[in-house]
Amino acid sequence: MNPTPAPRLSARHLTLRRRGVAVLDDVSIDLPAGRTLALIGESGAGKSTLAFAAMGLLRRPEVELEGELRVGGTDVVQASERELQSLRGPRMGLVFQDAAAALNPCFTVLQHLSEPLRRHKGLGRAACRQRAMALLDGVGIADPEARLAAYPHELSGGMQQRVMIAIALACEPELLIADEPTSALDVTIQAQIMALILERVRALGASAVFVLHDLALAAQVADRVAVMYAGQIVEEGPAAEVLRRPRHPYTQGLRASAIEFGAERLQPIAGVVPALSAMPGGCRFAPRCMRATARCTERPPRVADGAVTLACWHA
Ligand SMILES: Nc1ncnc2c1ncn2[C@@H]1O[C@H](COP(=O)(O)OP(=O)(O)OP(=O)(O)O)[C@@H](O)[C@H]1O
Ligand SMILES: [Mg+2]
Repeated sequence: MNPTPAPRLSARHLTLRRRGVAVLDDVSIDLPAGRTLALIGESGAGKSTLAFAAMGLLRRPEVELEGELRVGGTDVVQASERELQSLRGPRMGLVFQDAAAALNPCFTVLQHLSEPLRRHKGLGRAACRQRAMALLDGVGIADPEARLAAYPHELSGGMQQRVMIAIALACEPELLIADEPTSALDVTIQAQIMALILERVRALGASAVFVLHDLALAAQVADRVAVMYAGQIVEEGPAAEVLRRPRHPYTQGLRASAIEFGAERLQPIAGVVPALSAMPGGCRFAPRCMRATARCTERPPRVADGAVTLACWHA
């Protein structure tokens, strides 16, 4: 009998502090192999912080880290820089919001794609070139041979994003982490690029974490959804369950605002997220919550309700 494979991404009581302030507060989550997870929540919720921490890009001493954050078997909180480097590329692919900033302006497309292929797969020059063309073709870039010599500034925004996706997938990683992979793009090509990423992830049998603002998009691309509020996961579960029948008052607010305004940038629920340095001690959402009572001065534990877990005294 095969043992259940270790989750591709797993956080256990992960707390990340910046200058003593908890930007991620006791975050626990598991992403099984071959599944996709959307992280959603208002601006400042800590979605990018969690994604960047998983990428091993937020480390001591820049931030204080407690708890465990595993990619495959490796705890990125404890890993050495060397271990992280061997993780990024072959095990984990990274896609950022702004391809123009993530690509090196001094390197051609071929140089960008060759680096991971040479370093992690040991490919020679000719093999790199062949593989680079196939990768560009795989992300829908026409006439890939002609594009190999291009520098990032010679490409459109959509094409830069496609190149970054090709780089992220070059070594066929088990896990893709994408922080708002399409929000810097024209709406007309957002859906196209998202569909492309999903198609490639599925073709590889990889897992993926997508940081998203758009609930409707989360419902389309993710198997699971984790809703973040002020550095905590308040609700997590199968995407269809969480989005169709949200239980946490915050998720309900998010969904209501998405339906009302069309699921663009979310501006839900009266009030604003309190400053991290002035967070209420109990439920962090309580000051904005219609259902808050005296009980909510105590932090609600995350408990299971069917396939969903949520942290609320009143759900
Ligand atoms: N480099 C930094 N220095 C100090 N504070 C930071 C830094 N980056 C993020 N923060 C703070 O950490 C908190 C979480 O930010 P994060 O960028 O993870 O949120 P987010 O959910 O990704 O928001 P958005 O939807 O706007 O991208 C915010 O309060 C933010 O101000
Ligand atoms: Mg962000």
